[in-house]
Amino acid sequence: MYEHDVLVVGAGGAGLRAAIAAHEEGADVALVSKLHPVRSHTGAAEGGINAALHPEDSWELHAYDTIKGSDYLGDAPAVETFAQDARDEVIQLEHWGMPFSREEDGRVSQRPFGGLSHPRTTYAGAETGHHLLHTMYEQVVKRGIEVYEEWYVLDVAVTDHDDVEDRSCHGIVAYDIASGEIEGFRAHDGVILATGGPGQVYDHTTNAVANTGDGYAMAYRAGVPMEDMEFVQFHPTTLPSTGVLISEGVRGEGGILYNDEEERFMFEYGYANNEGELASRDVVSRAELTEVNEGRGIEDEYVHLDMRHLGEERILDRLENILHLAEDFEGVDGLDEPMPVKPGQHYQMGGVECDENGHTCIDGLYAAGETACVSLHGANRLGGNALPELLVYGARAGRHAAGADMKAAEVATGPSARSEDGGIDDSISVGAVGGSSEPTAADGAAVEAETVVDAAVQRQERRVEELLEAEGINHAHVRDDIQETMTENVNVFRREENLKEALEDIHEARQRYQHVAVSDPSRTYNTDLIHTIETRNILDVAEAITVGALAREEFRGAHWREQYQFRDDENWLKHTLLAWNEGSPELYYKPVILEGEDKAYEPKERSY
Ligand code: FUM
Repeated sequence: MYEHDVLVVGAGGAGLRAAIAAHEEGADVALVSKLHPVRSHTGAAEGGINAALHPEDSWELHAYDTIKGSDYLGDAPAVETFAQDARDEVIQLEHWGMPFSREEDGRVSQRPFGGLSHPRTTYAGAETGHHLLHTMYEQVVKRGIEVYEEWYVLDVAVTDHDDVEDRSCHGIVAYDIASGEIEGFRAHDGVILATGGPGQVYDHTTNAVANTGDGYAMAYRAGVPMEDMEFVQFHPTTLPSTGVLISEGVRGEGGILYNDEEERFMFEYGYANNEGELASRDVVSRAELTEVNEGRGIEDEYVHLDMRHLGEERILDRLENILHLAEDFEGVDGLDEPMPVKPGQHYQMGGVECDENGHTCIDGLYAAGETACVSLHGANRLGGNALPELLVYGARAGRHAAGADMKAAEVATGPSARSEDGGIDDSISVGAVGGSSEPTAADGAAVEAETVVDAAVQRQERRVEELLEAEGINHAHVRDDIQETMTENVNVFRREENLKEALEDIHEARQRYQHVAVSDPSRTYNTDLIHTIETRNILDVAEAITVGALAREEFRGAHWREQYQFRDDENWLKHTLLAWNEGSPELYYKPVILEGEDKAYEPKERSY
C-alpha cells in the first residue's frame, strides 16, 4: 500500500493547483492520474482566465457578472470568494512564468468575453490552458511532488456508516495501466477528486475522450450528492464535424455570427440587442439553434463565425491557434472564409457537492475544478470563469486537505443541508439494476483506515476479474447508446417526453451494462478494460443530468424547458441534489444563498 498525506486524483489544472497548495502547507502530497499531467484536458482550454486586475474593474463587478450569468443560482459566498481570490491566482501564475499575452507597455492583456461588464479575460493567445498546464506542471516538478501517471483510479476508500455524514475517506484504489497491478493508496489527511468534466456523456462535445466523469461517479456512489447536474453548458462555437472548440476569444476580439442569409442574427432577430455575439453562452447557443430550426441555418446544421475583418496581423497575434483548428478539422482558411460553428457540449455547471474549501459531506473527501459544484456557476457559467475556478478552488481544497487553518465554510453540504424533499417521476426507473458488483463504500463497518483501503482494493480486484473473465457485449455499444440519447433528448432545448425517453434509454443501457465483458485479456495497457469501467461512470452521470432536468420545471440559464418558459424564483430558487442512496437515487433540494459579504444579490430579469 502506498501512503501519502494528501492524494489528488487527476492532474489537470485543478489537480496540479491543489497539489502545489497542499505541498506549500507542508503535506506529503501525490498526484494520481490516468494521463500524463500535460495531456490533461485543461490543455485544450483556449480563451482565458477572468480576473479583475484593471484599476477600473473590481472583484465586486466580477462577482455581480458571475451571479447574473448564473441566472441567480450561484451561491454568493462561493462567488465572492472566487472573485476575490482570482486576482491573486493570476498574479501568482504570472510570477511562475505563465507566458500571458501582453500590451505594448508590458501589462497582461485582457479581452472582452461573454457576459462580462469589463474586459477581464487574461489569456495566452488562444492556447491559455496549454500554457497554464505547463506552467503549473513545472512547479510540481520543481517541488518534487510525486506523480503516479497512467494510474486509473477505480474507487475511493470510504467507510460505510449508514449516515453519509458519519463516513470518512481514507484513500483510493488505483490500477496501474502499464502493469495491470491494483494497489491501495492510503491518504492520511484527504483525497481530492479533480478528474475534470463528463463531456463524453454526449457525442458532440469539446471534451477529450478521457472526460468520462470518473470523479463524479466515485463520489456519488460513495454517498456524496451530485448538485445541479441538469445545468450543462453548450458552447456556441464548436466545429460541426468534430466538436472541436473555436474559442469565445474570436467573438471577444470582434468576430461576428451570420446565418445563411448573411444576417447578423444576434441583433437582427433581437436575441441580445446590447451584447450581440457577446451575450452569455446559453443565450447565443439557443439563438444559433433557433436560426437553424427556423430554416436560416447553413446546410440545416450550423451558422458562420467570421473573423476576416480583424485582419491577419491581429489574428496571428491573438488567435493563431484558431486558424490551425479550422484548417485542420474543417479545411477552412479563417483568414479568407467564415468558419462553420454550432453548439456543442462544453462544460458541466453542476458536480460533486462541496463547500468553499472543496470539502464534501464525507470527512476527508474533497472535489475541485469542473468535478466540483461549490456552487459558483449556477445555471450558466461565464466564459473565462472555469480556469480561475480551478485555480481558486483547487488551491483552497489543497490547503484545507493539508490542514491549513481556514475560515469556516458558509455553504452547507450533505443531507443535513436539505430544505425540501423532491420526487423522481415514478413512471421511470432509475438507479441500480442487478447489483452484484456495485462499487460503493467499503464493506463492513471498517473503521481502521488500512482496513477500509484493503476492503476497497479487494472489491475492485473482484470487479476487474469479473470484467476480464465474463463473456458478453462490448461496452462501446452501451456508451454509444447513452451518447446518442443524451445528444438527441437532453440538449439545449428540452421537452418532457424526450427527457423521459432518455431515462428509459439509460435504464436499458444499465441493464445491458450488466452483460459487458472485456475482450482484451492482457494486463498491460488494457484500454478496453479502462473504457468499460469509464462507461459505468458515464451511465451514472447521464442519469443524474436527466433526472435533474426532468425535475426542474422552469427555464433558468442553460436549462430550457418547453412547458416552462419562465424562470420561477418563487419555486425554483434552489439547488437540486441527487444522492445515490445505495442504488435507489433520492432527490432533494437546498436553498440558494444570495446574501453576500455586504450586499444581497436581488434576482433581476437577465438580458444582454
Ligand atoms: O471559448 C473559450 O475559449 C472557452 C473558454 C471557457 O470555457 O471558459
